[in-house]
Amino acid sequence: MTVQHPIRLPSRATDAVILLDQHRLADAAADLNGEDGEIRRRFDGGRPADLDEAEDAIRRYMRRWVDSGPEITYALRLPDETLIGGVEIRRPESTLANVGYWVFPAHRNRGYAARALILLCRIAGENIPELSSISAHIELDNLASLRTAEQAGFRPTGKVMENGVERLRLVRDLCSSSA
Ligand SMILES: CC(C)(COP(=O)(O)OP(=O)(O)OC[C@H]1O[C@@H](n2cnc3c(N)ncnc32)[C@H](O)[C@@H]1OP(=O)(O)O)[C@@H](O)C(=O)NCCC(=O)NCCS
Repeated sequence: MTVQHPIRLPSRATDAVILLDQHRLADAAADLNGEDGEIRRRFDGGRPADLDEAEDAIRRYMRRWVDSGPEITYALRLPDETLIGGVEIRRPESTLANVGYWVFPAHRNRGYAARALILLCRIAGENIPELSSISAHIELDNLASLRTAEQAGFRPTGKVMENGVERLRLVRDLCSSSA
């Protein structure tokens, strides 16, 4: 598969509090048990409903690494390797990437999503030199996600309509040192 705007990132990165690395098939049960209605709602309900589907999703995440995009999904873990969520990065344009993220309910409100996002922006900036900015498109009522993006240095630039849903578009300039 030839990817128009490849995403070549390290397979593992850490800030000493959280760890980003690749999924493995053994993550399927934890991924399935971890997701809640809020994650399903924010990701169009298109998340796994049983173990077979969870394993298919993990295989898809793993394949993306082999293809270097068009989207890369990191497992978000604690240093002891407990799976606590995930972060995704897409690169629709040479200079622009777009991110998504989720944290399982048992681990929320401890700053893990903001840390993961800050780390992802850092490694994307370091490893994809053409990239000048990263965006996040967030539903207007998703206050936790809006706050997470703000903590990671993203600033609102306007609204976008996606599949009939209005979202706030927030952008982080990779030249900025705000987070
Ligand atoms: C959005 C999400 C990833 C945040 O994960 P997290 O690890 O709890 O995030 P953080 O702890 O880094 O930051 C959360 C911030 O939101 C705030 N917050 C949480 N719930 C909130 C609410 N209902 N209203 C307002 N602020 C809220 C927290 O207080 C915290 O801010 P603070 O540090 O200033 O107190 C998590 O809630 C989630 O997985 N949601 C479902 C999936 C999702 O919406 N993903 C984003 C799609 S764009």
